[in-house]
Amino acid sequence: MPPRPDVQAHGPPCLRALCPTLDLPWVPLGQFPTPVERLSGLDEATGAEVWIKRDDRSGALYGGNKVRKLELLLARACVDGDDAAVTIGAYGSHHALATAIYARALGLRAHLVLYPQPLTEHVLDDLLLDHAFGAELTRVSHPVFAPYRSERVAARLGSAARIPAGGSNALGTVGFVEAGLELAAQVAEGALPCPDAIVVAAGTCGTAAGIALGCELAGLETRVVAVRVVPRLIANGLNLRRLRRGALALLRKAGLGAPLQSRVPVTIETQQLGRGYGASTPAAEDAVRRMAAVGIEVETTYTGKAAAALFRPGAFAEQRVLFWHTYSSVDLSSTLAEVDPRALPAAFRPVLIEGGRLPAEEPCP
Ligand SMILES: Cc1ncc(COP(=O)(O)O)c(C=O)c1O
Repeated sequence: MPPRPDVQAHGPPCLRALCPTLDLPWVPLGQFPTPVERLSGLDEATGAEVWIKRDDRSGALYGGNKVRKLELLLARACVDGDDAAVTIGAYGSHHALATAIYARALGLRAHLVLYPQPLTEHVLDDLLLDHAFGAELTRVSHPVFAPYRSERVAARLGSAARIPAGGSNALGTVGFVEAGLELAAQVAEGALPCPDAIVVAAGTCGTAAGIALGCELAGLETRVVAVRVVPRLIANGLNLRRLRRGALALLRKAGLGAPLQSRVPVTIETQQLGRGYGASTPAAEDAVRRMAAVGIEVETTYTGKAAAALFRPGAFAEQRVLFWHTYSSVDLSSTLAEVDPRALPAAFRPVLIEGGRLPAEEPCP
């Protein structure tokens, strides 16, 4: 199959500006640069000068942090002639939903292998939306089974792209190298002053690793605080370094010669996880309320926990801090209203019953 016409050969705009001959397929899916704004309503509660990077508005179909990664991951799938994309995630995975939405926009089928997480209304909504956007869904009982199962699905489909959990491999991370460069350009234009710290939620770590590397390529003197919202096995220094190294090696291979111009440390803030991935905490709920009061919607799995780090007493006192918003603010309620929960594969029926989206089945007489 020939590459689809909207796939471009030389990478996203900021990387292309650094290296016009960059050999890197990229497909525009989102709306960039995302705005930066001052959130002065949070200064008193944090003791900091707070700014926000609005990646919640990164796409018209769906926003959040997955769009930048998918612009590279799905471009690669198109160039490889794949007609499907297979990925994994928890029932409410934003990455899985974003893959469903943007794969479909490019004419690719999406197949999602999903595993349990604490059920909230938000998680159930995302699961129903996966179906509404035409993704084929497979349920596994535990995350450890997901990679093997997704490999089986991909093998059955034939020409299918394997997209890693969270979109975090070296290629997906490059999407956030672009984001770091985009931020540096906004600083250079005077849209915001250089932040002392960038606070972002960390799951599979591609977002934080990419931002740090992008800032280093641009020479921004800052630091990244990656707020861990998953177990240490997944979000850790080793993974961050591996993704950063991998993204840099990929870019070098693609022809990028630009040197690193600053050193941007990444620290992992470990205080917000609570009982585990997807389990809310009082601090996250408090952060949801405080952010809502200044007009910003966050949820309790990722961005509420990241925002909670801002409010930890003294954490950023007297500093200029940029909260990187990674959760989509696109309103999908009308699509959601049209989904019939009974139309999901039977394997998900117990989940929908437990979550109250389907009535409990009558016991057999
Ligand atoms: C809303 C949101 N924020 C942050 C993240 C974490 O990004 P990463 O997996 O790149 O660390 C995710 C990942 O799924 C997410 O959905």
